[in-house]
Amino acid sequence: MNSHQTQKKTFAITTPLYYVNDVPHIGSAYTTMAADVRSRFERLLGHSVLMITGSDEHGQKIQRTAESNGRSPQEHCDQIVQKFLDLWDRLNIRYDRFSRTTAPRHEKIVQEFFGRVWDKGDIYLGQQQGWYCVSCEEFKEERDLLAGHRCPLHPNREAEWRDEQNYFFRLSKYQGQLETLYQERPDFIQPETRRNEVLNFVSRGLQDFSISRVNLDWGFPVPTDPRHTLYVWFDALLGYVTALLDPDDDPTLENAISKWWPINIHLIGKDILRFHAVYWPAMLMSADLPVSGYVFGHGFLTKDGQKMGKTLGNTVDPFQLVEKYGADAVRYYFLKEIEFGKDGDFNEERFINVVNADLANDLGNLLNRTLGMAKKYCQGIVPAIAPDEISLDHPLKSLSANLAPGVAQSYKTLAFSQACEQILNLIRAGNKYIDEQAPWSLYKQGEQKAVEEVIYTVLESVRLAAYLLSPIIPQVSTAIYQQLGFSIDFNAILIDESVGFSRHGSWGVLPPNQTLEKPQPVFQKLDRINETSV
Ligand code: MSP
Repeated sequence: MNSHQTQKKTFAITTPLYYVNDVPHIGSAYTTMAADVRSRFERLLGHSVLMITGSDEHGQKIQRTAESNGRSPQEHCDQIVQKFLDLWDRLNIRYDRFSRTTAPRHEKIVQEFFGRVWDKGDIYLGQQQGWYCVSCEEFKEERDLLAGHRCPLHPNREAEWRDEQNYFFRLSKYQGQLETLYQERPDFIQPETRRNEVLNFVSRGLQDFSISRVNLDWGFPVPTDPRHTLYVWFDALLGYVTALLDPDDDPTLENAISKWWPINIHLIGKDILRFHAVYWPAMLMSADLPVSGYVFGHGFLTKDGQKMGKTLGNTVDPFQLVEKYGADAVRYYFLKEIEFGKDGDFNEERFINVVNADLANDLGNLLNRTLGMAKKYCQGIVPAIAPDEISLDHPLKSLSANLAPGVAQSYKTLAFSQACEQILNLIRAGNKYIDEQAPWSLYKQGEQKAVEEVIYTVLESVRLAAYLLSPIIPQVSTAIYQQLGFSIDFNAILIDESVGFSRHGSWGVLPPNQTLEKPQPVFQKLDRINETSV
C-alpha cells in the first residue's frame, strides 16, 4: 500500500443482515438502496469505502420455514441468498461485502467475542420466562402485545410462552455507560425521534437479556455449553464484524477490526432499533471494543396508505418493480419521495408521475433540447466559452456555485430527498432560463456569442446536476455524461480522482470545443403497465 492510500479516509456502512425466511421485499431493498447511495457519494469524495450487507440465517424462524418447505436450513438459506444477490444486481447496488452468518469464519469471530464477554463475567445462566415472537426473534413484554398475545408487528402470529434455562447477557450493568454514551454523543441515534424512543426505553431500566436457546439446533452452539444454541441476534450483530475481514485474513477479532472499525453508520429500520442502539453498544463495551459511529433508523414503507405486510397481501415486489420500470426509476422514487427517517408511501400512479416529471421531463428534456440547439447553432460542440468569464451573478452559475456543498451536506446527513430537491432546483432554473433567453431568437438576431453563453451555461448545469445525482441514478447520469462527450461510467466504482467531487462538483468542468453526442432520450417516459400491478 502506498502512502497516498494509507491517508485515505475510510468509511464503512452497513445495512441490516436480512432474514432469509423469505425472498427480499421492498423494505430490504429500501435500506440497501440508501446505503448504496451514501457509499457512492463517499467514493466520489475519494474515500475508501466498505459497504456491507448480508444475510441473517440462523434461528427458529429460518429453521421452521425450511422445515415447512421440506428443505434443510442450509439449502433453504442458499436458495434465498441467491435472490438477494440477484436483486442487488438488478438494482445496481455496489456492495463490497455480503456477510452470511452461516459462514465458518463467522463462527470463529462469534466464539472469540463470546469468550471476551464471558471472561468479563457478563454472561450467566438463568431462567427465562416470557412471550417470544418468533417472527421478531424477540421476547416481548406482555403490555406490548395485542389481545391473544399477538405481536403488533406480526398480528397474524401468536407469541409463544417460554419457560427455559438460558444464558443471559448482563445488559443492566451497562445502563450507566449507555446513558453516558447517548449524552456525550447526541448523534449516536438518529433521527431525533428514534433517539427519544431509545432514551425513553433505557430510562425505564435495562434488563439482562437471554442470549441462548434450548430446543433449537439451527445456530452456533454456546462455546462454553454446547447444549445451548446461541441466540440469533447475538450472532447476527457480529456479522458486521466478520464482514470487515479481508477474504484471506485469519478470522480473528484483531484482524477484523484492524482497518474499518469502528463502522461509521448502521442503517436500519425502526423496528430493530433497540438491538442496534442498546444491545449492540453494550455488547461492544463488554468486549472492550469501541462502539460504532451512529445508528440511523428509517421509517416503514406503506402501500397506498396502508402498512405493507403479508397479512394484508399488499407488499410491493421489488423484482417486478425493477423489471417494469428499471433500477434508476425505483432508486429515485424511494429516495426522493420519502423523507429518510419518516414512514413513506408507495403508490404506482404517483411513482410514474414523479419519475416522469423529474427525470424524463425536467432533466431529460432540458438536455435533449439544449443538445439539439448546440447541434443547430454551434456545430455540435461545446461552445468555446471560458467558464470564468461568465459573470458571477449569472442565474445558473450563481445557483451552481453553492449547490455542491449543500448537496454534499444532504448526502452526509442522509437527507436524500433534500439532495434531490436542491438539484432539481437547478434543473428547473435551467429550463426557465432557456425559455426566457430564447436562444432561437438570439440566433436569428445574429447574437452568436449570447447564444453560445446560453447553451454553455445550460449544458454545464445539466452536467453538474447529473454528477450530483449520480449516486442515486447512475445509469441516467452516465447517459448524460456520454452525450456531453465524456467517457465516464458512474455505474462502475470510480476510483479516478479526476472525476472526484472537488473537481466535478464545481462549476465550469465542461471543456470548450468538446464534441457532443447525438441527443437521445436519457430516460424513457414510463407508462403504467396494468396487468400485473406490483
Ligand atoms: N435479521 C434482522 C436484522 C439483523 S442485523 C444484524 C432483521 N431482518 S429483516 O429481514 O426482518 O429486516 C430487515 C430490515 O428490513 C429491517 O431494518 C426492517 O426495518 C426493514 N423492513 C421490513 N419491513 C419494512 C417496511 N415495510 N418498510 C421499510 N423497512 C422495513 O430484522
